[in-house]
Amino acid sequence: MSATSSITSKARNPAIHPELTTELAASVEQKAEQVLRLLKDASLTLNRISFANSFGAEDMVLTDIILRNQLAIRIFSLDTGRLPVETYDLMAQVESHYQTKLDVYFPQHAAVETYIKEHGINAFYDSIDLRKSCCYMRKVEPLQRALAGQDAWVTGMRAAQASTRASLPVREFDEGNKLEKFNPLSDWTEQEVWAYVHLHQVPYNQLHEQFYPSIGCAPCTRAIAMGEDVRAGRWWWEDPLNKECGLHVKK
Ligand code: ADX
Ligand code: SF4
Repeated sequence: MSATSSITSKARNPAIHPELTTELAASVEQKAEQVLRLLKDASLTLNRISFANSFGAEDMVLTDIILRNQLAIRIFSLDTGRLPVETYDLMAQVESHYQTKLDVYFPQHAAVETYIKEHGINAFYDSIDLRKSCCYMRKVEPLQRALAGQDAWVTGMRAAQASTRASLPVREFDEGNKLEKFNPLSDWTEQEVWAYVHLHQVPYNQLHEQFYPSIGCAPCTRAIAMGEDVRAGRWWWEDPLNKECGLHVKK
């Protein structure tokens, strides 16, 4: 029994339960087949390839494709120490559903202790610089460790998620981290992601039922209102044109 299941089990968000028409199911299965081919080819041509799994709905689609097909792609996650309890519930569920053990990277404890001592426990609300340095310490530095020695990494980003992602290629060279980067779901719609999740009975974060389309750290993520952009609930107090945490900035 998870801490949240009794609260959330009755909720149902229509945005994440599209009607599973024959056409939608067929097009999603075709797109999933293309993703499988892309990832299989990548795993055969590149030696060390890793998927960064945040446990959002897109990442659960990729987790399912990678694990069900036993692709030679390592999966890792970044635990910032400030994730919502629903994300930890899902992490445990993934371990039992796929009979796997997670590979989780944490921030350097000394950096977190110093930051909190100097700026305060919730200093990320005080300025953009403090928000960015928190993201650097809790996400970017651990990501650099996770990607060390890798030839390529895979993300669950979609072009339609944000203006900052509008021209997202399926494959690119990540100048910042100096390795290949694959964004296999770049052209997927939100509806297609959810169709895949339901067709394959993929576990998902219960916060999605509560109108959280994009989920990051608990203090920096909130639910969105009808018609709002899918990333409107992330760092909602900041300008939408700058809302990236540093994991995906172009050098
Ligand atoms: S973020 O840059 O704003 O945090 P977002 O939550 O949209 O990114 O996720 C985009 C992609 O970045 C995910 O599909 C995933 O590949 C990677 N990612 C983001 N957060 C994490 C995390 N905590 N652990 C692993 N990968 C992550
Ligand atoms: Fe810190 Fe918020 Fe960034 Fe998480 S999302 S690392 S809590 S600033």
